Amino acid sequence: MSFPLYAPAEEHDMLRESVRALADEKIAPYAAAADENEEFSWDVYKALVSADLHAVHVPEQYGGAGADALATVIVIEEVARACASSSLIPAVNKLGTVPLLLSASEELKSRYLRPVARGEGMFSYALSEPEAGSDAAAMKTKAVADGDFYVLNGTKMWITNAGVSEYYTLMAVTDPSAGPRGISAFVVEKADEGVSFGPKERKLGIKGSPTRQVILDNVRIPADRMIGAPGTGFKTALATLDHTRITIAAQALGIAQGALDYAIGYVKERKQFGRPIADFQGLQFMVADMAMKLEAARQLTYHAAAKSERAMHGEPQKDLTFLSSAAKCAASDAAMEITTDAVQLLGGYGYTKDFPVERMMRDAKITQIYEGTNQIQRMVMARQLLK
Ligand code: CAA
Repeated sequence: MSFPLYAPAEEHDMLRESVRALADEKIAPYAAAADENEEFSWDVYKALVSADLHAVHVPEQYGGAGADALATVIVIEEVARACASSSLIPAVNKLGTVPLLLSASEELKSRYLRPVARGEGMFSYALSEPEAGSDAAAMKTKAVADGDFYVLNGTKMWITNAGVSEYYTLMAVTDPSAGPRGISAFVVEKADEGVSFGPKERKLGIKGSPTRQVILDNVRIPADRMIGAPGTGFKTALATLDHTRITIAAQALGIAQGALDYAIGYVKERKQFGRPIADFQGLQFMVADMAMKLEAARQLTYHAAAKSERAMHGEPQKDLTFLSSAAKCAASDAAMEITTDAVQLLGGYGYTKDFPVERMMRDAKITQIYEGTNQIQRMVMARQLLK
């Protein structure tokens, strides 16, 4: 039976309730401190692991919770509503492991997905480089075959959760004469000799999630750590993004929902001119627009998630590439507008760190940039429409 489109099932609604309760109790109270101190919260990670929410997408056959793509979106959304940085735990665990789910041998899947499902290690994704951002295929990191091993050298940049993750799906050039078809994907471990990490980037937002370079200095790994066949790494990397741009959309939805909920509570309490500012139509229209944009982006995201789930179950979806870019672009643009309006609704207070909406506005910004800038998303969509 096909995975249903559009309508979340009752189990999805129950999942949302339980994740929201956990996020309100165990994540939200620490979100401001994680931002302020720029620290990854291992307590949040442990709380997510205890509830089996840290990598919900891992199939049951590898010891995971086996959540479908829509359930995974809902988990990320609800964690992001409380703390955007923390939502990168389930999101990046999915990003790092989808390349294996799509392309790795059974042996490799079993070897690496099980510890992720058990919460023993997180998985990051290393595609970008200092000179290869939007033009990901321009990467320079090399993997040279040496008997039953590959030797990797180069620098990966902007790697989410670098240093706190144990495992990395890392793309490197194995055949420099073959362009994108000369790129292969590997599993690299934090513990591999020659792996080190750059200093933490000093960012505008998502400060509770470290972003660092992954530096490879003669890292010698067994050849069986290659994901799929030589030269298929770039395709695997892009096919992965077809599934995981939807999780960035989910993060954006969650951030925006957090800001909208906070702003609605505020305008009902805050009094000016002798009455709650929620009585003023100018503000009512703002709130209505915020909720309308959010719901439109949410429906697009859920639709894309349903397509992703079908594709994962061997039913190729022609429009998945378009829909995942559209969802990521629409949700992140909506989140930027909604969080900016939330700051506006709180006036001067919104602009201070005494209220969470300024953090949400800063956190929202990254969703327009990573997993492909929104300009790249528009390019991807246009290519799909015009090909
Ligand atoms: N699925 C599978 N294969 C795909 C594909 C897809 N969605 N899109 C393209 N391909 C294949 C093409 O068919 C082609 O293969 P063949 O030569 O065999 O036909 C190959 O990949 C190269 O494709 P293009 O010629 O289209 O490649 P390009 O270089 O012109 O453009 C791009 C590709 C869309 C611009 C791509 O580079 C891109 O998406 N760039 C943005 C990079 C990005 O998103 N980075 C995110 C980093 S991860 C991150 O941010 C994570 C985080 O921190 C949380």
